[in-house]
Amino acid sequence: MSNRRELAVTLERVSGFDNPRIELEQYQTPADLAATLVHTAALHGDITGRRIVDLGCGTGMLALATALCDAHPRAVVGIDRDGDALESARANERRLAPSVSISWIRGDATRPPLCLSNASVATADATLTTVMMNPPFGAQKGNRHADRRFLDAAATFADVSYSIHNAGSADFVETFAADAGGTVTHGFEAECALPRAFKFHSEDSKTISVEVFRVVWDGR
Ligand SMILES: C[S@@+](CC[C@H](N)C(=O)[O-])C[C@H]1O[C@@H](n2cnc3c(N)ncnc32)[C@H](O)[C@@H]1O
Repeated sequence: MSNRRELAVTLERVSGFDNPRIELEQYQTPADLAATLVHTAALHGDITGRRIVDLGCGTGMLALATALCDAHPRAVVGIDRDGDALESARANERRLAPSVSISWIRGDATRPPLCLSNASVATADATLTTVMMNPPFGAQKGNRHADRRFLDAAATFADVSYSIHNAGSADFVETFAADAGGTVTHGFEAECALPRAFKFHSEDSKTISVEVFRVVWDGR
């Protein structure tokens, strides 16, 4: 995979959720956004030699993007609480990246010590960890900033994280990071085209604005 565009084209083949669960906000990350996020992380040196953890991995889009990009992660782990989503992620891995080995873990991403010990990746060595995540935004139930608990998790075990949030989250993420001993070093805006996934969707596709942040967690 030699560049961002080629990676995006390959990721277009990642199958979506078979039966998306609205209460878990199961929207697949668009291929182009996943490729951009992972390409950015690679340019920052946040992939090669590192353990990559995709929190709320769903269909495996971000984990697969990491495994397929030019950089060389030491290990890739995907965590989701939904077994059906993990089945989709495994099937996507078999189809698109059969030669790489990703650990798919069923568990609560907001309780990382348990998840990480299940993955047997919480080893005593000094491997740095980069978290990638497109967490639930809390949009469905008026539960604004459901992404807070995912950031909280990242703060406990990540050295660096990349997270996707709804537009207008910059103040929230910066304040959260500062309180948890982290620093937002980079951010960019993106458009996220979401195909119709639930009965209540009236349009075939809807584009929403999102923001992506890189946080260095140096206060752990
Ligand atoms: C917006 S989707 C993103 C999915 C994935 N990044 C993709 O592109 O397919 C959010 C994901 O978080 C998962 N999720 C929600 N709450 C969770 C929790 N507490 N622990 C683990 N996974 C969770 C959902 O099942 C869903 O797959």
